[in-house]
Amino acid sequence: MTTFQINGRDVTVSVEDDTPLLWVVRDELGLVGSKFGCGVAQCGACTMHLDGQPVRACVTPVSDVAGRKVTTIEGISGSVADAVRDAWVKLDVVQCGYCQSGQVMSAVALLAESPAPSDADIDTAMSGNICRCNTYQRIRTAIHDAATTLKG
Ligand code: FES
Ligand code: FES
Repeated sequence: MTTFQINGRDVTVSVEDDTPLLWVVRDELGLVGSKFGCGVAQCGACTMHLDGQPVRACVTPVSDVAGRKVTTIEGISGSVADAVRDAWVKLDVVQCGYCQSGQVMSAVALLAESPAPSDADIDTAMSGNICRCNTYQRIRTAIHDAATTLKG
C-alpha cells in the first residue's frame, strides 16, 4: 500500500512497491493524460511533476512517491500552466498530440524555474521530450510566448 497526493487529493493504492507510477496513475487512478511511450525514461511522454519537479513516471516506483505530491497534466494549474496552455493553443503546437502532455509538463517546470529562458535553456530542458511529429520549433516558440505572457 502506498499513500500519496495526486492533483491535490490523497490516494492510497494497493500495488507492489515497484509498480511504476505511470501504471498506477493510468490503470488504478484512471488518469490517462500521461502517456506510455518508451517505458525506459527516454521519450518524456510520461512526464509528471513530483513535488514540482519533472519526473519520468514510467521508471519511478510508486514507493518513491509515498507521502509526496504528484501532479499530472489533468491537475496542473496556476499562472505558468495557464500561460503554457494558452501559448500551445495560440500557436497550434500540437500535431498528433501523443507527446504533448509530457511536453507541457516539462515546459511548465522549466518556466517555473526560469521565467525567461533562452533558446539554449529551452533546448536543454526539453531535450528529453521526443516528438515524432517534429513540433520542436513550435514548442520553443510557444515557451517564449508563455514567458512573454508571464512577464506581463
Ligand atoms: S514512457 Fe516514460 S520516458 Fe518514455
Ligand atoms: S505531436 Fe505527435 S509525437 Fe509530438
